Amino acid sequence: MRAKVSMITGAAGEVGQALIRALAERAACEQSERRILTLDLNPLPPELAEQVIHVQGSVLDTGLLDRLVSEYEIEEIFHLAALLSTRAEFSPDAAHRVNVEGTLVLLHLAAQQSEWRGEPVRFLFPSSIAVFGLPDLATKEQYARVREWEWNYPTTMYGCNKLYCEMLGIYFSRHYRQLAADRPTSLDFRSVRFPGLVSAFTVPSGGTSDYGPEMLHAAAQGKRYACFVREDVRIPFMAMPDAVKALVDLAKAPQESLSRPVYNVTSFSLSAGEFRDQVLQYLPDAQITFEPDLKRQRIVDSWPADLDDSAARRDWGWAPDYDVDRAFAEYLVPNIRRRYHADQSEVSAPECAS
Ligand code: SER
Repeated sequence: MRAKVSMITGAAGEVGQALIRALAERAACEQSERRILTLDLNPLPPELAEQVIHVQGSVLDTGLLDRLVSEYEIEEIFHLAALLSTRAEFSPDAAHRVNVEGTLVLLHLAAQQSEWRGEPVRFLFPSSIAVFGLPDLATKEQYARVREWEWNYPTTMYGCNKLYCEMLGIYFSRHYRQLAADRPTSLDFRSVRFPGLVSAFTVPSGGTSDYGPEMLHAAAQGKRYACFVREDVRIPFMAMPDAVKALVDLAKAPQESLSRPVYNVTSFSLSAGEFRDQVLQYLPDAQITFEPDLKRQRIVDSWPADLDDSAARRDWGWAPDYDVDRAFAEYLVPNIRRRYHADQSEVSAPECAS
């Protein structure tokens, strides 16, 4: 018998590390025998590696994936591996390979496994505000809270990749092998579009919303920070525990309650200046200046100021635990202070829901 697993690709990244903790807690709370299988080009930090079966490798290595399928029964996949928006602009071909071809490989794997099991493999896909592209600042101001189907005109390779992969996921779950005499069971595709994510434990790399977490982590280390966007630029953000909660909650939502495959989720909307003010409230010695890089600025200008996440709230009870005040006061600042000072323990470890 193959061991049953939840698989996480890109597990050594920011969301991946937080998701491992959440899935390990979920498994402990539910006393589940399902293990966590992680895949990443990089090793995991030792304290996470001991909680999972970690495989170091690429999502594009089909030989490796074949071996994993022969050893494990994959019940759900959190496909997180991706090159973020700034990095993808520097290497668009590599981004397409990882972000699109990698997703296609995983979707095929999930479709085959679903057919083999006669039961859909759940496929959780983090998408992004980068799928939106507003043409100018006047339009951005006018359409402040965009809905899922509005302004789907991405201006980055990453945004194009994410939007297309949403479509591929829908295709595989609803139409793949639609002309077969007896259409086999296919996968169950679910996606959330994240705003900029802010973690207390990791710093993102290669994204364009990175100025938020970068200024906070720099301030906590007593380092100067030159923010690469204008003070007035506004996008939505979310604390990492809420991002993980969105993935886990969407994964467990009953299929019949879902009216769409792709959902906006968000928490708070801040201008870069307001983000700085939050940092200064807790770290008054922070030295943050604004020195916009016009090219990266243009990308952030094309992203919406806020997201309308009412569909997620209505269909699967989405609600972030951390608004802006709670995010900074209870999650970000205390944990970041500990991270850069001797005590490494995490504040307010979540408990099992009763
Ligand atoms: N955080 C991502 C990026 O900056 C956007 O979702 O690329």
